[in-house]
Amino acid sequence: MSASPSFLQALPGDMDHAADESGLLEGSDVGSQKERVVTEEEWLQKWEMGNIGFHKEHKHPLLQKYLDVLLNGRSGLRIFFPLCGKAVEMKWLADMGHSVVGVELSEQAVKEFFSEHSLPYCEEPVSEISGGKLFQSTSGNISLYCCNIYDLSSYASLMINLVEKNSSYLLVTVSYDPNKHKGPPFYVPESEIKSLFGNCCEIKCLEKVDDFSEKHRQWGLDYFLEVLYLLKFVA
Ligand SMILES: C[S@@+](CC[C@H](N)C(=O)[O-])C[C@H]1O[C@@H](n2cnc3c(N)ncnc32)[C@H](O)[C@@H]1O
Repeated sequence: MSASPSFLQALPGDMDHAADESGLLEGSDVGSQKERVVTEEEWLQKWEMGNIGFHKEHKHPLLQKYLDVLLNGRSGLRIFFPLCGKAVEMKWLADMGHSVVGVELSEQAVKEFFSEHSLPYCEEPVSEISGGKLFQSTSGNISLYCCNIYDLSSYASLMINLVEKNSSYLLVTVSYDPNKHKGPPFYVPESEIKSLFGNCCEIKCLEKVDDFSEKHRQWGLDYFLEVLYLLKFVA
């Protein structure tokens, strides 16, 4: 993969039991969420049932705000979207002249991406990955691989091995009291990000934004933050 900044929507962050600038006490204890995962079957079912509250019809405000930081003046990049779903930002960045590579479990999500943007595509098997398929826009600048990313490697190792030195990686996590909601989305403390990526990346927390809504109140929460990190691969 060539110079490949990437944007990931995923996990959560914190400051090791320190009250942050928002005044909230966050801890590295993930409570009952330890070892919790959403299984492959659960993800596929979410797509089948249309239970996709995680998908946003509009571009993520933090990606829009920090796009310049990610691009750092570069054009024609190859941008990786792990766990891409049908993220609308893929079309947006492709329209800017970058090429986009995504990985997604759900074939339905991939097909919905192309149909909702009226993009013609072709489909072919990927011989190296059992059951894997590549969906590529006819224009050639959007390539979405349909497979289980864990068939490629463990997630953090994949990112570390795949991206070139000096690549930038925008990572969004969510932060809330994990003892009040079982997830998903799951709370992942900053300590975990440091433990996964600290050996090979400079990690900078760019912003924490209040994303609390009625939905989160109904989950029993009293705060819900999005935390944006910039990871720079230095090793
Ligand atoms: C939080 S959603 C991201 C959705 C995306 N931002 C969008 O707008 O559609 C995570 C996505 O990762 C996919 N996914 C989950 N586990 C996966 C895996 N092991 N391999 C590949 N994709 C996976 C899910 O199907 C889901 O579409």
